Amino acid sequence: MTITHLPVMSKEVIEVLAPVAGGTYVDATIGLGGHSEMILEKIGQSGRIFGIDRDEKALALTAERLQDSRLILQKGSFSDMESILHSHGNDDADGVLLDLGVSMMQLKDLGRGFSFHSNEKLDMRMDSSQDLSAWSVVNGYSERELVRILKEYGEEFRAVKIVRSIIHERNKKSIDTCAELAEIISRSTGRHGKAHPATKTFQALRIEVNRELDELRKGLDASLRILRKGGRLCVISYHSLEDRVIKHFIKENAKADRVKQLMKKPMTPDADEIRANPSSRSGKLRGAEKL
Ligand SMILES: C[S@@+](CC[C@H](N)C(=O)[O-])C[C@H]1O[C@@H](n2cnc3c(N)ncnc32)[C@H](O)[C@@H]1O
Repeated sequence: MTITHLPVMSKEVIEVLAPVAGGTYVDATIGLGGHSEMILEKIGQSGRIFGIDRDEKALALTAERLQDSRLILQKGSFSDMESILHSHGNDDADGVLLDLGVSMMQLKDLGRGFSFHSNEKLDMRMDSSQDLSAWSVVNGYSERELVRILKEYGEEFRAVKIVRSIIHERNKKSIDTCAELAEIISRSTGRHGKAHPATKTFQALRIEVNRELDELRKGLDASLRILRKGGRLCVISYHSLEDRVIKHFIKENAKADRVKQLMKKPMTPDADEIRANPSSRSGKLRGAEKL
């Protein structure tokens, strides 16, 4: 597989994180290490980065690609960043970066079951060692639970209709592949507009399988605990549910004088970046400084 690692809004990340020589940084979603590579250039020989990811495969590729003793890689969830830092004898950090969602590698990698265009088994686990997968959600959750996650995490107004079709089909035989599920949804809703009718359902399943919103809330709280005074938090999100959580978190903590909000409106990729990397187009970057 060719490894592509075009870090989203890298110029803006460096501007917001403002890495300093000798500093300690947490790249809590290191993925293929695109952002870390740029941070390494700024932190001198005594700086270091703790790179966290749930995805073992991403960590192995990054370790091989970057080979840098200043980079300490750790498999885990970013909600555990505080204990990860402590386990390496560190109490605090000068900056925390969260670049949410899935990497291109996860989307394109055969067998991960994220994409509705594929004939892969429904999976969507970022951490391949966890039990819950998209297959178990689609084939095992009750009608009520499925409607709830489609409405809450997909903001899918056709949730009831889609879930009824899913239940109808899975009563005949289990729904095994991404393409099968996408086809059931297409048949149930018909095709309108540019986006595939399964887009919102797939988003909802991914959020449920990886507990993404819960992780985000815990990760933001943990960031605030580990940041030093003057330390920077930089978060890139790719859908409105996440952006809402981040916006609210920064606003509430700014009100309580725990952080300074670094920008009112989120930063977004410019036209050149969107042209070069179309999947960056939904990116929104927010930042805060610990007071
Ligand atoms: C958009 S990619 C990051 C790309 C990275 N910034 C780069 O430049 O290569 C997001 C990464 O976050 C990881 N991830 C998502 N949620 C996580 C969580 N709760 N804990 C740890 N890693 C997570 C995914 O496995 C994925 O590798």
